[in-house]
Amino acid sequence: MNEFLVKNEEDTRAFGITLAESLKASDVIGLIGDLGTGKTTLTKYIAEGLGIDETITSPTFTVVKEYNSGRLPLYHFDVYRLTSGNDLWEIGADDYLYGKGVSIVEWADLVKDGLPENTKFIYLEYGKGQNERIYKWDF
Ligand SMILES: Nc1ncnc2c1ncn2[C@@H]1O[C@H](COP(=O)(O)OP(=O)(O)OP(=O)(O)O)[C@@H](O)[C@H]1O
Ligand SMILES: [Mg+2]
Repeated sequence: MNEFLVKNEEDTRAFGITLAESLKASDVIGLIGDLGTGKTTLTKYIAEGLGIDETITSPTFTVVKEYNSGRLPLYHFDVYRLTSGNDLWEIGADDYLYGKGVSIVEWADLVKDGLPENTKFIYLEYGKGQNERIYKWDF
């Protein structure tokens, strides 16, 4: 497992922008972490790294939002209201997950069985200080 100690939001931004540089079509990033650990915030900075100039807002009520102004399309999922991979399939998520863009899935643990095999999971945890976070990943 790789581990990164995030001291503040500026570190989150640096992590997101660096990660964005390595992304290619059909990559799927699954974010797993409790409420407020910063899944949407990290997504915002990955989007910035992709050159997206639209405002990223949480897609909780729509499940997925699409942004097309960057180097690659971004499909931002929040599956908080879903309960299984089958729910993902029912909303036609495969068109996004295997599509021309990058997918980022908040609460990926809820739909793990419906995500592509090569999904890159990132685990977000709270650190000691208010703005500290710990990111863990194994890709
Ligand atoms: N190092 C940090 N990285 C990311 N966010 C941070 C950091 N430090 C503080 N924050 C703050 O923590 C909050 C994270 O909220 P955010 O909506 O991104 O979390 P979330 O995991 O998407 O929550 P939810 O489970 O509701 O979807 C923001 O208010 C952000 O400013
Ligand atoms: Mg969120």
